[in-house]
Amino acid sequence: MKDSSFEKTSAQRPTSGYNRREFFKGAGTAAAATAIAGGAGLAEAQEAGVAVVGPGMKKVTLDVNGQPREVAIEPRMSLLEALRYGCGLTGAKPVSIDASSGASNVWIDGKVASANTVLAIECVGKKIRTVESLGGDKPDAVVTAFVHNDAMQCGFCTPGFVVAVRNFLDQKPNATEEEIRAGLNGNLCRCGTYANVIMAALEVVKGGK
Ligand code: FES
Repeated sequence: MKDSSFEKTSAQRPTSGYNRREFFKGAGTAAAATAIAGGAGLAEAQEAGVAVVGPGMKKVTLDVNGQPREVAIEPRMSLLEALRYGCGLTGAKPVSIDASSGASNVWIDGKVASANTVLAIECVGKKIRTVESLGGDKPDAVVTAFVHNDAMQCGFCTPGFVVAVRNFLDQKPNATEEEIRAGLNGNLCRCGTYANVIMAALEVVKGGK
């Protein structure tokens, strides 16, 4: 039998009883209190007392690797875009749009997240740490172990893996090979350098030997 629900006018269709104005009011009482809105939605958000950002560029300060970084962003921009184009930090990579590769891994308030799935504006007031924090004159043991074990080919996945390995070993410093394999299953390497990445992680577990 033909479903006629699509032929009904909007007045005939049952409603959820939850309209957009109520949505904005709900959002306003939630933590973010930030709306990305335009046109009629903008007016409704303002009426509901929600702070509206955009749609144009806005200067915000992000706390990146312990430093305040002022960047101009549009509200639609991801944290990955803000880091790469606003801060010049190109370690985290744009590989997958759904976080399936792990290539854009960063820490946000101590937890690993894919920078390309988080809006930059959401990160104002949070502590962002990138793979660059593990480099410098005294590189982190994970970075050194990647070099020792030749744990990269094209290197595009490497920063995401380095963050993942550092994060995993911080939680499980005596991890076994099996645990490391399971712990890194959120990262992909198209070049297939997995065996060397595992060896690098095991080297860190063994104290760099
Ligand atoms: S080294 Fe090329 S994608 Fe991993």
